[in-house]
Amino acid sequence: MESITLALAKGRTAESTIDLLQKIGIHFEDFHEDSRKLVFYSEDTSIKLIFVKAVDVPTYVEKGAADIGIAGKDNILESGADVYELLDLKIGQCKFVVAGKPEIYPFAQQRLIVASKYPNITEQHFRNKGITIETVKLNGSVELAPLIGLSDVIVDIVETGNTLKENGLSVLEDVEKISTRLIVNKASFATKSQLIQPFIKRLEAGLEGKP
Ligand code: PRP
Ligand code: MG
Repeated sequence: MESITLALAKGRTAESTIDLLQKIGIHFEDFHEDSRKLVFYSEDTSIKLIFVKAVDVPTYVEKGAADIGIAGKDNILESGADVYELLDLKIGQCKFVVAGKPEIYPFAQQRLIVASKYPNITEQHFRNKGITIETVKLNGSVELAPLIGLSDVIVDIVETGNTLKENGLSVLEDVEKISTRLIVNKASFATKSQLIQPFIKRLEAGLEGKP
């Protein structure tokens, strides 16, 4: 039987995504949160689930290693992957912001130094505003950068706002809303539409609360 490969981001949104799939009747038999296994099959074997690093989901889908991916809008935007984005699963809702010490805003200096895990999104945002920046790519704990003088501001994700608050930083500008999205490989969308279309329909119904 033909199957579709679904790439899912490991990490904080994985459980909610698996819950949503269960709600629409797709069960992965031996899946449990603490498992170190990276490949699972749905009970009817029509879906092969692979767990990949969140940041890599768009690449797997663009290259066709996965037909479908479920990934954060943050990683989809940052990757610039050429894929179809077809559904907002409304999981992991948060936003991209420019943040820093409140006194730095509005920006007065000629050349801002901006730290971020997302250099492409950062550069795009400031390019749109006509502000020249120097980007410092970090891999985490980005809030530290303005505190110790590594950068003037940061571009990062805010969910509850606690990390900013506890580090004396404020939101200076909103950049983009983020949530988990369903993406599809362009070729697979055509060649496997008989499997992909019903899957999307079921997910849509699940999101609207229909059985
Ligand atoms: C993320 C993000 C922010 C924080 C936002 O960091 O980069 O720092 O969560 O959440 P909050 O608004 O609810 O505080 P994460 O915990 O993933 O760590 P990392 O940035 O060090 O990878
Ligand atoms: Mg962080």
